[in-house]
Amino acid sequence: MAKAGCYSLHLGILLCTLLARLSYALNNGVGRLPYLGYNTWNAYHCDIDEELMLDIAKRMKSLGLYDAGYNWVNLDDCYAEKSRNAEGNIVEDQTRFKGGMKNLTSQIKEQGFHVGIYGDSGWYTCAGYPGSFRNEKRDARTFHDWGFELLKFDTCAVPYDSVIQQNNYGKFKPMSDAIIELAEETGTTPMIYSLCSWGWQQVWLWAHEQGQAWRTTQDIEPNWKSISYIINNNSFITQAADFYGHNDLDILEVGNGELDFEESKSHFTAWAFMKSPLLVSTDLTNITDASLSILTNQEIIAINQDDVVGTSISPFKWGYNQDWTWDPEHPAEYWSGRSQNGTVVMLLNTEDKPKAMTFQFHESPWLRVGRKYSIRDLWAHTDNGTASRAFTAEGVPRHGVVALLLKDAGPEDEGIAPPCNDPRLTTTWWWGCTQPGVNDGPDGATPPEHNKGDDTTHDHKTPVGTPAANTESPFCHSLSAYRYHFALSMLYYICC
Ligand SMILES: *[C@@H]1O[C@H](CO)[C@@H](O)[C@H](O)[C@H]1NC(C)=O
Ligand SMILES: *[C@@H]1O[C@H](CO)[C@@H](O)[C@H](O)[C@H]1NC(C)=O
Ligand SMILES: *[C@@H]1O[C@H](CO)[C@@H](O)[C@H](O)[C@H]1NC(C)=O
Ligand SMILES: *[C@@H]1O[C@H](CO)[C@@H](O)[C@H](O)[C@H]1NC(C)=O
Ligand SMILES: *[C@@H]1O[C@H](CO)[C@@H](O)[C@H](O)[C@H]1NC(C)=O
Repeated sequence: MAKAGCYSLHLGILLCTLLARLSYALNNGVGRLPYLGYNTWNAYHCDIDEELMLDIAKRMKSLGLYDAGYNWVNLDDCYAEKSRNAEGNIVEDQTRFKGGMKNLTSQIKEQGFHVGIYGDSGWYTCAGYPGSFRNEKRDARTFHDWGFELLKFDTCAVPYDSVIQQNNYGKFKPMSDAIIELAEETGTTPMIYSLCSWGWQQVWLWAHEQGQAWRTTQDIEPNWKSISYIINNNSFITQAADFYGHNDLDILEVGNGELDFEESKSHFTAWAFMKSPLLVSTDLTNITDASLSILTNQEIIAINQDDVVGTSISPFKWGYNQDWTWDPEHPAEYWSGRSQNGTVVMLLNTEDKPKAMTFQFHESPWLRVGRKYSIRDLWAHTDNGTASRAFTAEGVPRHGVVALLLKDAGPEDEGIAPPCNDPRLTTTWWWGCTQPGVNDGPDGATPPEHNKGDDTTHDHKTPVGTPAANTESPFCHSLSAYRYHFALSMLYYICC
């Protein structure tokens, strides 16, 4: 390579590094995929101690949860003494964590887990333990010294905005800065920063600048009403989720309270497909096989942990309601999204009775009419043949779910009526055979010989559901818009 070329290559790499940092400060290598593990809150609230934590780690292994991918063990609120020590540091509860946090995290990490802890952006945590307001650097250091690799940061006892004048963005920012500074100072991996921000001030619009996950809603409860409320709110903000930044739908309630088997499956599927972190939080000493079978469904977990596609499923049709209806009791019922292996579809029966659920392929952006798709049922673990144009799931239980993976399997079979290129339809209808109602339309229309199935004006052959090569870097993505500008085009071709 000529000298000038080398020079511009070096300059390019330098600029890439700087720009990538500016445009996406927190793509710092942690939290690329949603984290899977255990959190103590829903199962135990404040009733936690070191023996429990060790027992949880042991059972995560023996129950197969660790092997299924759940490799985090996270403490929630109530691990500390009520007051800081003389130096001003948070100290662990001297009775319940008498061996010391450092010792506890070492023992859990020795078994292969990562460990996470909890803190609060205000004066006190939600249960009244010391919060980190104006102690962010000090507390980040304590958590780091204890060995923790993730911090869930809550929103209780925050001073009024009229006093501190920094809004929610400003309340969470100092801890984000503290985590990054500490990692730089110590040359260690930054802690994952999980903002427990309850959806306040549209956290999904800005939290990716500070951390890797953000709570989009109020606390979850172990009943269908709560699950359905959370799904409804999240159905409108699915675009916020991608690699390194996740809408957090809250800790799982599988195994708890009033949720029945079908409701628990729906809960788990929605959380996984919306790319939420998945934290088990139920009593593992008596967890049922049914709950375990839900939590360890490898085909569902694989979508959550897709290494190629980081985006969430989104509704393409509301079903029970008109599209775009905000209804906590009847959220959107027909969802789809991309995955590395094809198009993911989630059907959610929000009604109190079983029903058949049908979708037309033209309704989803990731499916095409004129193609044939193989259908994989991710709960039955069966291949359910192929389908073209539409699919119906019969007898979806009340509050139940159907999770499908559709893979392109070539052009649709001959002879499906009405033909997509029926001349009467194409001259009359913009959408031809996909016009609503036309699928049940005129029979016996035989298209003229020259008009049969060789329409080349549409690119039928590009598979959909296949990610673009560069789904990951927002930096490259924004740069690509300017790639015809000379200087930036150099950068684009060097970096991307
Ligand atoms: C933790 O404490 C126990 C009991 O005091 C001790 O036996 C063990 O060696 C310690 N483990 C680590 C990793 O420090
Ligand atoms: C859903 O959003 C509405 C409107 O912002 C809010 O009032 C409600 O508390 C949210 N629900 C949950 C479960 O967070
Ligand atoms: C497990 O035991 C706890 C504590 O006794 C109890 O509250 C819970 O209902 C039990 N769960 C199951 C699934 O039996
Ligand atoms: C895609 O298929 C491969 C091979 O069967 C499998 O290992 C992987 O987990 C699948 N990925 C997703 C996201 O389903
Ligand atoms: C797929 O086939 C299995 C096995 O016959 C069946 O149990 C399941 O309900 C089918 N799934 C759908 C969505 O029709």
